[in-house]
Amino acid sequence: MAVVEVKSGIYWVGAVDWDSRHFHGVTYTTRRGTTYNAYLVIGEQHKALVDTVYTPFSDVLVSHLRELVDLKDIDYVVVNHVEIDHSGALPRIMELCPQAQIYCSQRAVNPIKKHFGEHGWDITAVKTGDILDLGGKTIQFIEAPMLHWPDSMFSYVAEDKLLLPNDAFGQHLASSQRFDDQVDNAILMEEAAKYYANILMPFSTLVARKLEEISELGIEIDTIAPSHGLIWRQDPGQIITAYQNWATGRQTPGRVSPEIVVVFDTMWGSTEKMAEAVVDELSRQGWKVNLYSIGKSDYSDIMREVLEAKAVIIGSSTINNAMLPSLSPLMEDLVGLKPKGKLGAAFGSHGWKGGAVSQIANKMADAGIELVGDGLMVQWVPNAEDLEASRELAREVGAVLAKKYSR
Ligand code: FEO
Repeated sequence: MAVVEVKSGIYWVGAVDWDSRHFHGVTYTTRRGTTYNAYLVIGEQHKALVDTVYTPFSDVLVSHLRELVDLKDIDYVVVNHVEIDHSGALPRIMELCPQAQIYCSQRAVNPIKKHFGEHGWDITAVKTGDILDLGGKTIQFIEAPMLHWPDSMFSYVAEDKLLLPNDAFGQHLASSQRFDDQVDNAILMEEAAKYYANILMPFSTLVARKLEEISELGIEIDTIAPSHGLIWRQDPGQIITAYQNWATGRQTPGRVSPEIVVVFDTMWGSTEKMAEAVVDELSRQGWKVNLYSIGKSDYSDIMREVLEAKAVIIGSSTINNAMLPSLSPLMEDLVGLKPKGKLGAAFGSHGWKGGAVSQIANKMADAGIELVGDGLMVQWVPNAEDLEASRELAREVGAVLAKKYSR
């Protein structure tokens, strides 16, 4: 991919990973690949590289930089975040630019040494408000702990109103294009939502606070260049507004997502019959609802839908006095990602003895989901009365939602 000028004297020098299909293990699927974005900022006196790339793409970064400068002329390397997809090429860069000073947050200093060893690199720890003057261009630092790690920070080039927020506002989306106006907006926002749901959702309170802080700092932003995916130059307000909504568990106005997500697994079809009755009843009441059989579905796609949904209803057959193991990754994701402001309900079937429904309900409570009812359990195969009870569970959820959202 070619080097691209983002602003006058500021270049994208990153790498496109067309083959990435998973991130952070196997449950987050990245079916559209990803990018590792790095930026070269050229001032009148100094040059700074902001972030590097994932280790296997080190040569791509070096080749991009060589198109623009002699590497010995790079004075600073800004490490906004130590995670290896952004700092993996740091040893290669420091080998070629041994004179460069590393700028990072205080929390990043030890992780850099633990990741790459004691090289005697010149490392300067910075805090919010500190400024690196390149001559005609300045880089202001804004600490952003937990977006995505405690060490994370944003860099801001005031002269160009350019925010370089590392992981925040990213998407796992490989493309030959670099800017938001060059790709399909629906796909771009879908990947941005999936990224938020699976990476940033547990830190929503901090996201909301950081957005307020940036607003209070009076920072003007006309372009947001994250470390993954496309650069927001046409409408950075679109992704800021989306983050404000996602951080508070709201659906983005103008987007149409399912209001209720129903997920189940079934052993011999009983829980599936209950799930279908729940979905049918919700649909009859006018709710937008999607149904997922977990064995045929993608965990991270479900989490993306949960992000904007109002309720999540989960069912399972019982095995060994517990839910079916296929649901465990989803339940652990819910507990870890802690979606904001969701209602929930649990249902399921069992033979001789139950256990799945209470386990699901407990996990939902751990995830901070507000439960409707105590959970619906059916023994053996649901009869007409049991299916009516499933419909009644759907009506209960619908009634609470209608009250909560004044529908
Ligand atoms: Fe893209 Fe937290 O690394």
